[in-house]
Amino acid sequence: MNNSRHLKKHWNKAYNKDDNQLGWFEENPTQTMQLIEECKLETNVRILNVGVGTTTLIDSLLDTGYTNLLANDLSDLALEKLKERIKKSHNYNLNCITDDLTDPKELQNLEPIDLWIDRAVLHFFLKEEEQTAYFNLIKKIVAKNGYVFIAVFALDGAEKCCGLDLKRYNSDMIQNSLGSDFQLINSFNYTFINPFGGERPYVYTLFKRQ
Ligand SMILES: C[S@@+](CC[C@H](N)C(=O)[O-])C[C@H]1O[C@@H](n2cnc3c(N)ncnc32)[C@H](O)[C@@H]1O
Repeated sequence: MNNSRHLKKHWNKAYNKDDNQLGWFEENPTQTMQLIEECKLETNVRILNVGVGTTTLIDSLLDTGYTNLLANDLSDLALEKLKERIKKSHNYNLNCITDDLTDPKELQNLEPIDLWIDRAVLHFFLKEEEQTAYFNLIKKIVAKNGYVFIAVFALDGAEKCCGLDLKRYNSDMIQNSLGSDFQLINSFNYTFINPFGGERPYVYTLFKRQ
């Protein structure tokens, strides 16, 4: 089994439980919404949430009035669960794309995106070629004047999540990978308390493309 299929199986298994049993489940994505509000975007802009899982962020974005949402994940089970929940709760037909961020196919061909959202995904990519593919995708599809939001485990964060090793970050490391075309707008550290009471220090970053 190749790495992508192996990881898809791993993540599908992880989502075979209730949301509040997931170590990364966040009832209210307050810090993410705070940074997104700083972008002062029109409500019809194209927003792509990568490695979306079953996040409540989609509910919050719809509640705030955003109308043009795209969701990506490697796990088709996560996307099925999310799509069904959002259809029921918001009567919204969420556009879902099953694709691997480290070997993107369909994502490569998307029309330009105004806001890229990643919470707790980039830190799983350990190989340099996976990180390069991820950042190349951002550079390919994020529009001029578009925004990139990335929240990942901070340098003092946990070493593992969902049984997988992690690469931890600070804002300078993300800036270096994005390059000078992207300007840091805001960044802060935030310790997320997970559903089991564990402390999970994250770094939150928001960049704007020049
Ligand atoms: C820790 S979860 C975070 C989920 C969501 N962003 C949240 O904040 O609740 C990491 C997510 O990344 C997805 N993922 C992992 N590797 C991926 C890849 N190569 N391409 C796309 N998604 C991936 C997983 O399926 C999972 O949904």
